[in-house]
Amino acid sequence: MKYIKHYQCTECEAFYPPDKVMNLCPLDGRPVQMVVDVERINKDYPAMSWYHPHINNMWRFGPLLPFDICSHEPDVCSLGEGHTPIINISDYALCKHLGLDVYLKEEGQPHAGYGANPTGSFKDRGMAVVTTMARHYGLKKLVVPTQGNAGDSLSEYGAKYGVHVAVIMPDDTPMPILGKVAAYSLQSPGISLDLVKGTIREAAALMKEKYLPKGYFNCATFQEPGWRIEGKKTMGLELAEPWPNLKADWSLPDAILYPAGGGTGILGMWKAFDELQKLGVIDDKRPKIIAVQSAANCPIVTAITQNLPDTIATNGGDTIATGINVPGGVGHKAVLAIIRQSGGGAIAVSEQQIAQHTKQVYQHFGVWICPEGAATVAALTQAKAQGLLKPGQKIVCFNTGSAEKYLPNIRALFSPKLEG
Ligand SMILES: Cc1ncc(COP(=O)(O)O)c(C=O)c1O
Ligand SMILES: [Zn+2]
Repeated sequence: MKYIKHYQCTECEAFYPPDKVMNLCPLDGRPVQMVVDVERINKDYPAMSWYHPHINNMWRFGPLLPFDICSHEPDVCSLGEGHTPIINISDYALCKHLGLDVYLKEEGQPHAGYGANPTGSFKDRGMAVVTTMARHYGLKKLVVPTQGNAGDSLSEYGAKYGVHVAVIMPDDTPMPILGKVAAYSLQSPGISLDLVKGTIREAAALMKEKYLPKGYFNCATFQEPGWRIEGKKTMGLELAEPWPNLKADWSLPDAILYPAGGGTGILGMWKAFDELQKLGVIDDKRPKIIAVQSAANCPIVTAITQNLPDTIATNGGDTIATGINVPGGVGHKAVLAIIRQSGGGAIAVSEQQIAQHTKQVYQHFGVWICPEGAATVAALTQAKAQGLLKPGQKIVCFNTGSAEKYLPNIRALFSPKLEG
């Protein structure tokens, strides 16, 4: 925590001391984030010695995270998350047809020579920091309402690091995710699972009623004070760092297509770019941020299309991309501002397109991407038609998880037809 100056509200910019835990900004109910003392890091770590490329996980960015793993390893809770590969998918039929150079940031499955997200989704980045910070502040009981992956992840870290975790998720969460947390709740006395009808919104309502009065710390998206943002920041840092065999320098792609739910990843990556610029590693040029959602539930797309200052809450929708089936969020206002500032956009894709690319990316590359990741690939067509993408640009699609976690919901995509 040596290089965390303070917490700061993303809306009113009020400061809060880093020695106390908090949730949302008490002045306006918006998310806060951790402000890193980049100037001091530059002084204390000359010649980019903050960068530890030999560390095979997201903690390779040393003091840009709350604890530098090289000097404070016992303070860090890590199960090997992050440092995921970037795969060139430009010879995928759709990319070839569009004439676009596209790379997939692959968060789902382990790949030799890289780190690996222990529960098969990018949520592990955020939850590694949440668990680290919970231990730092002496918090023993955490609660998380979730669309699934975040709960899977936090229960894994909680079980491994002895922190109690209450997970609340929709009862139609894909069975591999739900079943994994349910199994943990049977094995580990500190882990519990509640199911609700609806989405993460109903899960949050149950959290308030059942767990907050019992002293559980609120780890819902953006309610923990910027810790998940710090974890997801590492996705932006990894986009910027040199990519083996693809680029030798620190630089950013031209566009990022990201499956947006609450939007933590967008805030995190944007924060990464600002910090790298302050460190003098990159210039002020930013990628276009393109948020992708299912047409079944797309509050961010509606707000961008209708030029609204904030999203209007929905009731969720019927989508196989359950991770992004988020009805609204306290961070959406900041997400919309970033999309606009970047000159990016927001795109809704159909369920049929999501299913098609979940299957076809597997057929072509043997990478079992999740429906949310497939949505970003599907969105390339519209993004190009809207003038957001051009041939010759470096474009990154985010695959945020593994299809394995969505079976049996997507079983039909991979099942042979029965005869007769
Ligand atoms: C697989 C997957 N992709 C994307 C998201 C959206 O993440 P964010 O909160 O960064 O918008 C989620 C979150 O719930 C998810 O589980
Ligand atoms: Zn505020």
